[in-house]
Amino acid sequence: MSWEESTRQKMLHLKLPTDPRWVGIAEMQIEDILVDHAYCEQKAASSCISLILRYPDLDELVDTLTPIVAEEWGHFERVMEQLRKRNMKFGFPRKDEYVIKLNGFVKKGGSRKQQLTEHLLLNALIEARSCERFKLLSKHIQDEELKKFYYELMISEAGHYVTFIELARKFHDPEYVNQRWQEWLDYEASILKEMELRGDRMH
Ligand SMILES: [Fe+2]
Ligand SMILES: [Fe+2]
Repeated sequence: MSWEESTRQKMLHLKLPTDPRWVGIAEMQIEDILVDHAYCEQKAASSCISLILRYPDLDELVDTLTPIVAEEWGHFERVMEQLRKRNMKFGFPRKDEYVIKLNGFVKKGGSRKQQLTEHLLLNALIEARSCERFKLLSKHIQDEELKKFYYELMISEAGHYVTFIELARKFHDPEYVNQRWQEWLDYEASILKEMELRGDRMH
């Protein structure tokens, strides 16, 4: 199976495809997209660091997430490079409605392992949606350099998505994880449906 094909199958897990109008309006506001994207990479690195600090006793988790932190920070650097070479401004973070809404779905309480599952699935979902959006950018925008850039990042984030799901299945009952994953997917589709379509946000 080609990479494209296998990723398409993995990406089918998302229950609602992005509105096809998004990529056109995002392209018109590419400066905002790049700034928002830089913060997405920062948050991806930070969330892996938080998990390492919360679960230092889980060797496999620590050893799997440590190189991902470096990779996400590398992505941050690369987005910054794209911003700088276009003379675009970075600036303060913007309110991330998507992540705020997803955070609201994290089940509070429960065992440590249950909490870990929630956070791994939350990360997996953000990776999956980012991967879908990067794919749209890589396919449809005009800027040749950014097309290539987003294609490369799409592959990397697809790998992270798989890693988070696999980790979740390793540290908790896989049946529970699969069932909870479906709930996360349904929830994500429901918030995306309600959210205003805007071209200045990656999600
Ligand atoms: Fe990334
Ligand atoms: Fe990632």
